[in-house]
Amino acid sequence: MTEAQRPIGIFDSGIGGLTVAKAVAELLPKERIVYFGDTAHLPYGDKSTAAIQSYAIKISDVLLKHQCKVILIACNSASAAAYQLLKEYTASRAKVMNVIDPMVQYVGEHFSGKRVGLIGTKRTIASNVYQRKVDKLEASIQLQSLATPLLAPMVEEGFFNNDVSQTIITTYLQDKTLEGIEALILGCTHYPLIKESISAYYSHHIPILDSSGIVAAYVKEYLQKNNLLSDQLTTEHKFYVSDYTRSFVESTKLFFQTEVELEHYPLWE
Ligand code: DGL
Repeated sequence: MTEAQRPIGIFDSGIGGLTVAKAVAELLPKERIVYFGDTAHLPYGDKSTAAIQSYAIKISDVLLKHQCKVILIACNSASAAAYQLLKEYTASRAKVMNVIDPMVQYVGEHFSGKRVGLIGTKRTIASNVYQRKVDKLEASIQLQSLATPLLAPMVEEGFFNNDVSQTIITTYLQDKTLEGIEALILGCTHYPLIKESISAYYSHHIPILDSSGIVAAYVKEYLQKNNLLSDQLTTEHKFYVSDYTRSFVESTKLFFQTEVELEHYPLWE
């Protein structure tokens, strides 16, 4: 296998990261994807940094075994907790990317001087990583961050576009923290599924920033610049989960838009 033919490894706490995998597969149809959903440890949003780091190392071992050229952390909570560590651990074996840097770069380019809201898990918001990275831009962006811990499990359970999800979304978005925002970052890879309801709350008047497309474009740019674009898809994508249930299989349809064949890959055996 040539360098360029090596797959792109993508992982998340569960199947939310499939929103990112889907965007990558659409933008880069010749790239093979190896996806790992750590469904045994879901949700990451409530876990400690140390726990997420230990899962991330195990998962990157799996992805490195598949000779992935890129390891894309398709989870904000894991990007916040484990990106630096994974970069050091992986070193020259693969390029490690996260979902936060491309979004921060995008916000810096398009929303300087503006008030930008951010919603995400407890882990992501408590890590302050978006705030630190946005501050570094020195673009006078006022970031207004709110933890919205019920949203990821709600989506994972297939609860969206119904009265329950609507009430939860509205209750969060009414929070004072988000008052006056001019754009809102969806800081969790589960949230693209509720983007429409969120946008409707703001009467579609402010941009709702979903990282999947932005991240896929970032991956493409990196591969192009480094002559790592694959010229043909030789083998099927692979989708692993650390805990296998029928409901995960069904949920993949929501996130990837087609049902994919999930393979059970226990992390600690
Ligand atoms: N998809 C994860 C993220 O982007 C959140 C889900 C979880 O808490 O595991 O943060």
